[in-house]
Amino acid sequence: MTDRSKIDSNAVLDVVRTAVERHGTKREELIPIMNDVNRELGYLPDAALEEISKMLETPTSKLFSVATFYHMLSTKPRGRHVIQFCESAPCHVVGGREVWEALKENLGLEPDETSKDGKWSLITTSCLGVCGVGPVIMIDDDIYGSVKPGDVPDILSRYS
Ligand code: FES
Repeated sequence: MTDRSKIDSNAVLDVVRTAVERHGTKREELIPIMNDVNRELGYLPDAALEEISKMLETPTSKLFSVATFYHMLSTKPRGRHVIQFCESAPCHVVGGREVWEALKENLGLEPDETSKDGKWSLITTSCLGVCGVGPVIMIDDDIYGSVKPGDVPDILSRYS
């Protein structure tokens, strides 16, 4: 991921153009392109949305509604590490609620908040596709299954 403190408009345009080269300009590639840009920059700055809008000939209003709908996308800067907590029922019934409380307590964050030091963002998500090992959390690209509330401090300590 690019260092967010150093993102300039040329870097944003480079990231967008690379994603569009990779996926092409068909409308159905909109989400993969937005996902690539979000992963690389940490979020979707206005300049990125405007460039995607131009290259895919899609209104920015459509891009904003896509960014709002998908949990993994954000139009606001996020922390260096994004924690996604699965809030779907299969994870909930096997202890997800307690894990959620432990996450909020350890991080001192509420959902959709980013820590003041810029290290963490905490978001909820629907099923991550590994329901057999709930409760499940995902930090960046790492998935943790069968998480217990007492595991949370150890998991968080793996990230700098
Ligand atoms: S319900 Fe949590 S991973 Fe599917």
